Amino acid sequence: MTGDLDERVQFGIEGLDAMLGGGLLHRSICAIVGTYGTGKTTFALQFVYEGLARGEKAIFISLDERAEMIHDDIRRKGWDLDGYLGTSLYVVKLDPTDFTVAINQIRDELPRLIRNVGATRVVIDPISLFEGIFTDDAKRRQELYRFVEMMRDESCTLLLTSETLQNNPYASKYSLVEYMVDTVILLRYIRPSDLSEVHPAAEVVKMRGSNHSREIKPYEILKDRVQVYSEANVF
Ligand SMILES: Nc1ncnc2c1ncn2[C@@H]1O[C@H](COP(=O)(O)OP(=O)(O)OP(=O)(O)O)[C@@H](O)[C@H]1O
Ligand SMILES: [Mg+2]
Repeated sequence: MTGDLDERVQFGIEGLDAMLGGGLLHRSICAIVGTYGTGKTTFALQFVYEGLARGEKAIFISLDERAEMIHDDIRRKGWDLDGYLGTSLYVVKLDPTDFTVAINQIRDELPRLIRNVGATRVVIDPISLFEGIFTDDAKRRQELYRFVEMMRDESCTLLLTSETLQNNPYASKYSLVEYMVDTVILLRYIRPSDLSEVHPAAEVVKMRGSNHSREIKPYEILKDRVQVYSEANVF
């Protein structure tokens, strides 16, 4: 195996990178699956910011929060935004309710944008809103597959986030992305047997082409970063 094939794209979350065997594989596709408020957007922002700090370029496509809200999220963390925005960071808000526009933007304009910017890290937050555009299951599967295949031609590492269904915190809303992406990180709440308080915990469920931790590790969203405690146990 050449060094290139095993090149790691660090998340910038120390404990998580350790669980991933050093980071995501270069040009791979990762999904972060978690219920509302588990920190999907926060993890994705940290992934983007790690790239910027390394001199890379990044595109953050938001399907729920407005671009200004994403900007504020970044500023609130105390991270430099103005030094990157428009030069190496592009935050784009797409409106998933406008069916044709959203599909065309993602399908036709995203590859061009990635190439023009020279982005090596791309986030779509959350992909479940794109999936939700399609009312027919077969069509949804087909379109998501087409999108993932299209993204495999781009020389970037792609991070998708996905909501879960309320009654199943283990699976993405449409139970599709898990099968199509290379890496799945599951974020969920764990309630200890004494019911004292819930703890958020992360787990690498799947990682094609790499060894990875199978342990469930607690994490905390701090003001300026996410901390995954890879040495600690939740139980
Ligand atoms: N400054 C902060 N300090 C501590 N915790 C914070 C801070 N900001 C956000 N959080 C925590 O992060 C959670 C929200 O994270 P985030 O928006 O990344 O979640 P999400 O999974 O993307 O949610 P959604 O599905 O609603 O988009 C909050 O519910 C809160 O618990
Ligand atoms: Mg979010």
